[in-house]
Amino acid sequence: MYDELIAPPRVLLGPGPSEANARVLKAMTTPMLGYLDTEFVHIMDDTVALLRRVFGTQNRLTLPVSGTGTAGMEAALANIIEPGDAVVVGINGYFGERIAEIARRCGGTVTTLHADWGTPLPAEKMAEAIAKTAPKLVALVHAETSTGILQPLEDIIQIAHEHDALFLADCVTSLGGQPVDLDARGIDIAYSCTQKCLAAPPGLSPISFSERAVAAIRHRKTPIQSFYLDMTLLENYWHGSARRYHHTVSMSLIYALREALRVVLEEGTYARYKRHENNARALLAGAKAIGLEPAAAEGYRAPMLTTLRIPEGIDDATIRKRLIEDYGIEIGAGLGIFAGKAWRIGLMGESSNERNVMLVLTALEKLLIAFGHAVEPGSAVHAAAQVYADR
Ligand SMILES: Cc1ncc(COP(=O)(O)O)c(C=O)c1O
Repeated sequence: MYDELIAPPRVLLGPGPSEANARVLKAMTTPMLGYLDTEFVHIMDDTVALLRRVFGTQNRLTLPVSGTGTAGMEAALANIIEPGDAVVVGINGYFGERIAEIARRCGGTVTTLHADWGTPLPAEKMAEAIAKTAPKLVALVHAETSTGILQPLEDIIQIAHEHDALFLADCVTSLGGQPVDLDARGIDIAYSCTQKCLAAPPGLSPISFSERAVAAIRHRKTPIQSFYLDMTLLENYWHGSARRYHHTVSMSLIYALREALRVVLEEGTYARYKRHENNARALLAGAKAIGLEPAAAEGYRAPMLTTLRIPEGIDDATIRKRLIEDYGIEIGAGLGIFAGKAWRIGLMGESSNERNVMLVLTALEKLLIAFGHAVEPGSAVHAAAQVYADR
């Protein structure tokens, strides 16, 4: 016999999943409906309408793909890229690498452009590669979860469009925590996830294609290699009057996403972005006060994910283990070249609140002192409190 499932209480301050909103978890207990039940179709329509608002788009081809953020990445690339198509991918972290890898697997001729981890991609460098290769697609990550960089997009989008390329932004970490504004910015293809700033469980990847991107899909000469992620088939299930079965979607996850999006719009997107910014500011002030320096360049820091350099003589794994064992707090390990060198503290969605900021700072300060790091006791919380007081 196995015991009843009991998950230990955790404060989720890693790179995702974040804490799911209570209303979202409740919505998931709603009974199943048939995948073409009229009532379920209404729920799907609501979800798409809400998604368009949070994405900031009127794009018709907007829907949640079944699968996590990587499914959205695959869907975006597999539908747009045909073998031999030129693609430019900007890489300044782990997830940019993943975009390039999938683009190659789709048969794209991929030119990669690198910037140091912890810095944004310079528009001039991207411009050179775009002018040289005349790509069909230019792709990069909006909020790089491996480094905590929030990439400025406007100039690169303009350059891509001047060269008739489509522009793709990975909004897995940014959606719901910072403006993505697809239409205002001219982003042609964007995908995200549910488990970060939308505060729902993982399992769906919201995705959106502009009319130009849809035209590129319609004018393909070769079939879309993936059946499961074929947007022309998914469109027939999600949109229009004659809904056609494609695959059995997860009702529970769609209920969850619908509720999560309602919560986002009730709070107000602007208020939500501000909340993420304020809590990140307080966290960083507290972290600096105990000698934890940010790994992402100033002026480009993503408020939902703060990377902090691990001080000399402090063991990464030991501290993270103690945070879990003593406080039930999960923070993220460094990825790629940041492994063992930086921590990633996520303040995403529900997890982005003052209580969590104070808690993680208190815990980190106490552990750093315990492991011999010279820190003035109380300085982390004091610095963070100052930020909240000045707000
Ligand atoms: C920027 C970015 N892109 C893509 C992904 C992949 O998403 P998932 O792990 O949900 O498949 C992640 C995951 O953290 C991410 O942070």
